[in-house]
Amino acid sequence: MKSKILIIGACGQIGSELTFKLRELHGDENVIASDISYSNLDIVNSGIFEIVDAQNYASVKVCVEKHKIDTVYLMAAILSATGEKYPMKAWDLNMESLFHVLNLARAKFIKKVFWPSSIAVFGTTTPKEYTPQYTTMEPTTVYGITKQVGERWCEYYHNKYGVDVRSLRYPGIISWKTLPGGGTTDYAVEIYHKAITDGIYDSFLAEDTELPMMFMDDAIKATVDIMKAKKDTIKIRSSYNLAAISFTPKEVAESIKKQLPDFKITYNPDYRQEIANSWPQSINDSYARQDWKWKHQFNLEDITKEMLLQLDKKYKAALNNSK
Ligand code: SER
Repeated sequence: MKSKILIIGACGQIGSELTFKLRELHGDENVIASDISYSNLDIVNSGIFEIVDAQNYASVKVCVEKHKIDTVYLMAAILSATGEKYPMKAWDLNMESLFHVLNLARAKFIKKVFWPSSIAVFGTTTPKEYTPQYTTMEPTTVYGITKQVGERWCEYYHNKYGVDVRSLRYPGIISWKTLPGGGTTDYAVEIYHKAITDGIYDSFLAEDTELPMMFMDDAIKATVDIMKAKKDTIKIRSSYNLAAISFTPKEVAESIKKQLPDFKITYNPDYRQEIANSWPQSINDSYARQDWKWKHQFNLEDITKEMLLQLDKKYKAALNNSK
């Protein structure tokens, strides 16, 4: 029988691209996109779409039953920067949505769950370089706290109730289709947009702030791969470290300048600097590489090339449409 998939938070940065990929792999009729509002018309108009409130158990359950869903990707979340502005909102959304989905799996309405964790689970007491899978974790952001606690609950539901939940600790994700919102790593997407539209970018992180990053195509591949891996190869049921590359704002700016020599960058660190300072600079993801053969593809030069090419096309198309 074909798998029936529900993506919660399908209008967001990762949810939207995951939806396109899963539709391609499983067929439009087997992939149901959902979100709290119609905020991404590319998603809403290109396949089956439902309004689902991830914080409301009944709302999720009705959709799961209506479409006979067996697999849920829970991509709705409030990220690190927004979470610091609205701590209780972030706690409520990030935790309630996870419990609803885990409980639906425990009650056997669904069979399989994907839930993203983040490098935000680490904190200032974590070793910063090549951060191991198992290490000190004292997150200082509300977002990081929800992800760390969420990991514990995922493992608990797997061990106690046999729930097949799989998870990745995403680094900062770089993409051109849908903008990220409310994250600390968002600068690495904004910088490409500004390079095309203004030729200058004012970075909210200092020039030497090194963070783990990944191109969207790699993130989607990792997500698809971990979900299709045989059950017994998934040995970690909290969340896997996942890595591709690491860079600083200065290094992205340099790579952009190779293609756009007039590009300029200024630095005005704000409250997000402290969040970035609490996170690792690079990640050891050897368990993912060993257990289910994870391998990344895109380095910084590849990413810059693709981002500038796609965004240039996108802005030109928007300009032509408005004429
Ligand atoms: N991209 C996220 C953020 O910056 C980290 O997982 O909040």
